[in-house]
Amino acid sequence: MTAWAELHVHLEGTLEPELIFALARRNGLTLPYADIADLRSRYDFGDLQEFLDLYYANMTVLQHREDFADLTDAYLARAARAGVRRAEVFFDLQAHTGRGVSATEALEGVNDALSRSHERYGITSGLIVTLLRHLSAESAMEAYEQARASGVPLLGIGLCSTEIGNPASRFAEVFDRARADGLHTVAHAGEEGDASYVRDVLDTLRVERVDHGVRAVGDPALVDRLVIEQIPLTVCPFSNVRLKGVESLTVHPLADLLRRGVKVTVNSDDPAYFGGYLDDNLDAVRESLGLSDDEVRTLALNSIEASFAPAEVKAELAATWDYLAAGTTGGRE
Ligand code: HPA
Ligand code: ZN
Repeated sequence: MTAWAELHVHLEGTLEPELIFALARRNGLTLPYADIADLRSRYDFGDLQEFLDLYYANMTVLQHREDFADLTDAYLARAARAGVRRAEVFFDLQAHTGRGVSATEALEGVNDALSRSHERYGITSGLIVTLLRHLSAESAMEAYEQARASGVPLLGIGLCSTEIGNPASRFAEVFDRARADGLHTVAHAGEEGDASYVRDVLDTLRVERVDHGVRAVGDPALVDRLVIEQIPLTVCPFSNVRLKGVESLTVHPLADLLRRGVKVTVNSDDPAYFGGYLDDNLDAVRESLGLSDDEVRTLALNSIEASFAPAEVKAELAATWDYLAAGTTGGRE
């Protein structure tokens, strides 16, 4: 089976309605929804903020270590079926500590599942704590320190949540600190914000990958920079369409960026909310954008190269594509 790396998925965005109801029951909580169908009927978002409001509300069912472990394990099981062999997952720590959950309990729950991902699912994994850009720099630093103090292994830090009006430069200090501690750095930018937001995370946070980044497409000088500096973009097609950043998959800039030489990857972002996992996103863009088999293979190899996996893991995953002559992609089954 050919291998993919998923580099942009929020664990809380993999919280399926069924699990929301199961966890509410387990934790003795009453949800403000009549049933699963009622909840699903609200998954119609005008923009990023409308989505985030529901996303933060739903994650309140995550209360105990085992809840975070169950959430993470369910994602890994589904990702394995999508062909994912490397997962670098985002976790919004402040969204949990901000409502009274212990940072250590939440992180240990996630780690309970991640630490067994290879043995259970053949997936090597890493945890990226995504700092929330609508909160203060002090809150971000506090979250970073809590994450470090938990003793849970961290792969990196990221930045997400409301983009417009929340400049990334406020977080330069915590990003410098993480880098000095040997962690990797990524940030969301160019999802709703224009190309200047992408430049901002490159210049002020010096991130290694940009999450989304699709708005760079309108700025040829920036596209050239992404190509020259080989900065990967973790693109999330279903997310962009569902949050109205892109009108439809048939006009998604993924193909244009790929053909201009940008190291783009395909990812699911918040698959429980946006209509599908990595395999669903891939099937859809392949069809809607008319991607060739070679282009699909390039997307897979980009995801492996852009990951923060050790060189020997990258080589092993990339080798799954070797036996395929140009012109075939093989099944993910
Ligand atoms: N953008 C910003 N923040 C997020 C997202 C997203 O798509 N998903 C979860 N947090
Ligand atoms: Zn995201």
